[in-house]
Amino acid sequence: MARTPSVADDEIFNLRHARSAPDLFPMLEALYGARSDYAAFRDKLVKALKKGWEERPADLKRLDLARDLEPDWFQRPGMAGYVFYIDRFAGTLRGILDKLDYLDDLGVTYVHLMPCLKPRPGDSDGGYSVMDYRQINPAFGTMEDFETVATALRARGISLCVDLVLNHTAKEHAWAKKAAKGDPKYQDYYLMFDNPDLPQQYERTLVEVFPDNAPGNFTHYPDIGKWVWTTFNEHQWDLNWANPAVFLEIVEVMLFLANRGVDVLRLDAVAFMWKRMGTRCQSEPEVHMLLQALRACSRIASAAVLHLEEAIVAPAEMLPYLGRGKHDGKEGNLAYHNSLMVQFWSSLATRDTRLMSHVLATHFPDRLTNATYATYIRCHDDIGWAVTDEDAAAVGLSGHGHRGFLSDFYEGSFPGTFATGELFQVNEATGDKRISGSFASLAGLERAADPAGVEMAVQRILMGHALIAAWGGIPLIYMGDELALTNDYSYRDDPHLAHDSRWVHRPRMDWGLAETRHSGDTPASRVFWGTKAILARRKAVPALHGGVPVRVAAAGNPGVFAFQRVAPTGVLLALFNFTEHWQEVPEGWARALGVGEMRDLLSDQRVETHHGQIVLPPYARVWLV
Ligand code: GLC
Ligand code: GLC
Repeated sequence: MARTPSVADDEIFNLRHARSAPDLFPMLEALYGARSDYAAFRDKLVKALKKGWEERPADLKRLDLARDLEPDWFQRPGMAGYVFYIDRFAGTLRGILDKLDYLDDLGVTYVHLMPCLKPRPGDSDGGYSVMDYRQINPAFGTMEDFETVATALRARGISLCVDLVLNHTAKEHAWAKKAAKGDPKYQDYYLMFDNPDLPQQYERTLVEVFPDNAPGNFTHYPDIGKWVWTTFNEHQWDLNWANPAVFLEIVEVMLFLANRGVDVLRLDAVAFMWKRMGTRCQSEPEVHMLLQALRACSRIASAAVLHLEEAIVAPAEMLPYLGRGKHDGKEGNLAYHNSLMVQFWSSLATRDTRLMSHVLATHFPDRLTNATYATYIRCHDDIGWAVTDEDAAAVGLSGHGHRGFLSDFYEGSFPGTFATGELFQVNEATGDKRISGSFASLAGLERAADPAGVEMAVQRILMGHALIAAWGGIPLIYMGDELALTNDYSYRDDPHLAHDSRWVHRPRMDWGLAETRHSGDTPASRVFWGTKAILARRKAVPALHGGVPVRVAAAGNPGVFAFQRVAPTGVLLALFNFTEHWQEVPEGWARALGVGEMRDLLSDQRVETHHGQIVLPPYARVWLV
C-alpha cells in the first residue's frame, strides 16, 4: 500500500477542502469561535485532516474518487444490509470470512458489525461502552483482522458499517481515567459538576433512557468528588462537545477508522450530544451543527465514507438528521426510519393502516437530498411506541391508549394477540412501556399452535421485508430474521445481561438451521427464500432507487397500505395487506395511479382481479408497475 503523498494527492485534498470548507468552518465558528483558543483549534483540525488524508491507503483513495463520481451509490436498489453481533454471528472477526458465501447467498451488499471496538470489561451495554476507539475488542480479534475483513468485504462489493459512539465513552476510557484522577484538561472532556445543584436543575426537564436499571442522568462519585453526566448507564460518561478538544479527538478517531476500511460510520445516540438547561437535551440545534461539521471532515479526508445517524426520535425531530431544513443535504447520508418500523408494528396489531398512512404522508417529504433512510423492522434495540397524541387523535385514537395497547399486544398479554415479547424499561412516571422481542416472535411464530398460525407468521415476516425493501433507502435485515429465529431466553442466566431484556432478540446464529435453508418447507427456509427473492427483485427494479420520490396513496381500504414510487421511467405501486383476511382494492384506482399491467414484480405473477377489484390474500405484498 503506497502511502507516500504525491503532488496530485495534495491537489485532491485542496479541492476537497475547498469544496467542504463552507460546510465546515461556519459551523465551527458558531460553536467555538468565541473561545480564545479557536484559531489554534482550527489549525490543529486542518492538520489532522491533512494527516488523515496522507495516511489513507491508496485503494481507499481510489474508492473516494469512485464515490465522488457516483455519489448515489448507496441509494441504488442493489443495496441490502445485514446487521449482526460479531461473536453471535461468526465467533470472531476472522470467522466472518467463512460466512461471506452465506451473505452473498442472501443478497447482502452492506454489513453492520455491531460494536467492535474495545469495550469496558463486564457489562458494556452490548459494546456501546467503549474504552479504546483505536483497538478492536480482543474477544473478536485484532485491528489487523479487522483490516483483513474490511478488504475481503470490499472485494465482494460489500460495504462495511461500524459503530462510533459519540455521546459517551466508558468510564474506563483513558480520558475518563485521567479526569477521575483530577486532570482538569480531561475533566473538561466530560460534564462534571462539583455539587448536585446544576444536575438537579437539568434533571427537571430531562427524560430517562434506562429508568429501570440506570435511573437519572447523573452519577455521584464521592471518591472523585464529582457529579458526572451519565445519560445512559452509570459506566457511560457523556462527552462535553462544547469543548473543541473533544471534536478534534473524535475527528481523529473517525479518520483512523476510515483508513482501516470502514465505509459507513454509524454515529450512535447523536441526539444527546448537546446540553441546554431547561430542555430535554435532545436534538438541540448545536447537535446538527456538530454533525454537519463532522460530515464535512469526512468529505475532506475520506470522501468515500458515509455517516449513518442514530436518532430514535419523533418524525419532525428525526428529519433534520437527514439534513432537512437548515442543513439540507449536508448532514447524515443515512438515518433510521424509526417511524416506518413503529407503524409496521402498529398496523400489524390493529389490522388498520390509517395511522400509518397519516404519519408517513404528513411528516415525511417525498425525497431527500444526498441522503436516504436505513429502513428496518427489527434491530438490536427495543421498540418504543413513538406515536404522538396529535397523530393518534388525527385518526380518532387516544395516544396514551394506543401506546398502551401496543405494549400489551406485543408483550403478549392482550387477549387474542399473536405476539410473544418482553417489556423493556417500564416507566411508571410516564406509563411508557417499551418492547423487546425477535421479529419472528413478535410476528407470531413462537405462539403459533398450528400450521395456519405458522403460515400467518411467515407471511407477516415476508411482508415486513417487502415493505422495507420498497420504501426507499437501505433495507437492513437484522441477523436471524432471515431464518425466523424466535426469542432467546438464555440471557436471563447471564448476570451481565439479565437486567436488559433487549438480549431476548440478540440470539446466537443458528448455523445448523441455516444449513437446512435450501431444503424442506420449514419457516426458516421459507423466510430465507422469501427474503432472498425480495432482495433480488428489488435489485432489478430501478424505481426502487432511494432518490425516487415515495408517495403514500389512499387505497380506500384501511387494511391495505399503499404507496407509489414515482420514477421518471414509470410508477411503481406497492400494496401491503396488513390483515389475515382477503382484501380488495379497485383496479381502476391502481390504473389511475399509473399501473399498466396487473403483474406483481415480486411473485412475477398476475394479481388476481375480480369484478374490477384487485384481490389480495392475507398479508399480501405486491409491487405493480
Ligand atoms: C444506542 C444503541 C443502544 C445503546 C445506546 C447507548 O442507541 O443502539 O444499544 O444502548 O446507544 O450507547
Ligand atoms: C432510546 C434512545 C436510543 C437508544 C435506545 C436504547 O430509544 O433514544 O438512542 O438506543 O433508547 O434502547
